[in-house]
Amino acid sequence: MKTIMVIGAGQMGSGIAQVFAQSGFDVYLNDMNEAALNKGMNNIEKLLTRAVEKGRMTDDQMAETLNRLTPSTGLEDASNCDVVIEAVVENMDVKTSVFKQLDEITPAHTILASNTSSLPITEIASVTNRPEKVIGMHFMNPVPVMKLVEIIRGLQTSNETYQAIEIITHSLNKTPVEVNDFPGFVSNRILMPMINEAIYTLYEGVASVEDIDTVMKLGMNHPMGPLQLADFIGLDTCLYIMEVLHEGFGDSKYRPCPLLRKYVKAGWLGKKSGRGFYHYE
Ligand code: NAI
Repeated sequence: MKTIMVIGAGQMGSGIAQVFAQSGFDVYLNDMNEAALNKGMNNIEKLLTRAVEKGRMTDDQMAETLNRLTPSTGLEDASNCDVVIEAVVENMDVKTSVFKQLDEITPAHTILASNTSSLPITEIASVTNRPEKVIGMHFMNPVPVMKLVEIIRGLQTSNETYQAIEIITHSLNKTPVEVNDFPGFVSNRILMPMINEAIYTLYEGVASVEDIDTVMKLGMNHPMGPLQLADFIGLDTCLYIMEVLHEGFGDSKYRPCPLLRKYVKAGWLGKKSGRGFYHYE
């Protein structure tokens, strides 16, 4: 397992490509959008430069890492890969279309992994002829910093595939956690209802944005308040995950807060759009 491809060069995909390249893997970073691909490659270079400036990496290590990264706009390069990690937008139709193509292009031994935050791995696997080799590999944002990888077993994922991904996760110096395929897995099943409840607390006028975040930071020792965290994740992504939980469990406790819907409809998507619960430059 030496050569991998990451599909989608956005905030997650570029981070995933970076940590694999830093750990000695040969990496193709793929995006169908050339501008997005360039932005992803530039972000990696910026982060590595900062690491060199801070003395966490040498110039040679940076050059070696960049040498292991190959930008790509066509999926054909996946035919050389042992593992492919998909990190495109959180949309089932887009993901299944990518997995169908990968199933045709890649050799039989290739493991196909998804970085989805909430979509069922079993359903993604069902469009391929190798469901035993399809698995969830859910990294946390920002990928170079966060230690956890949630590994999600689809209904038909084999033990061999699970073990291979577990070994790879350790080789990235990250900690794997084994999770079965249920809506929101573990991370978002617990995190998103907390964020949604914080939004309800604001919606019902219990306290201000800043005070809600202060309660959770100083009172519960969270490094970041839930409303700021929602802005960083993206309010559209938060709404999408709440909808997956609501539909998947059929339980009203997961209903998305109307204020979250309103902000998303207004285009207030958090940090990436300049406005969410807070204002950003
Ligand atoms: P993003 O919007 O920053 O990046 C997605 C990229 O995929 C874009 O550059 C887009 O051009 C590209 N893309 C779309 N369709 C494609 C295709 N068919 N082929 C190749 N490239 C394609 O999104 P982000 O935030 O990086 O999320 C990606 C995935 O990671 C989603 O499934 C998301 O749920 C998941 N995720 C996101 C986290 C977050 O905090 N944002 C955390 C953990 C997982």
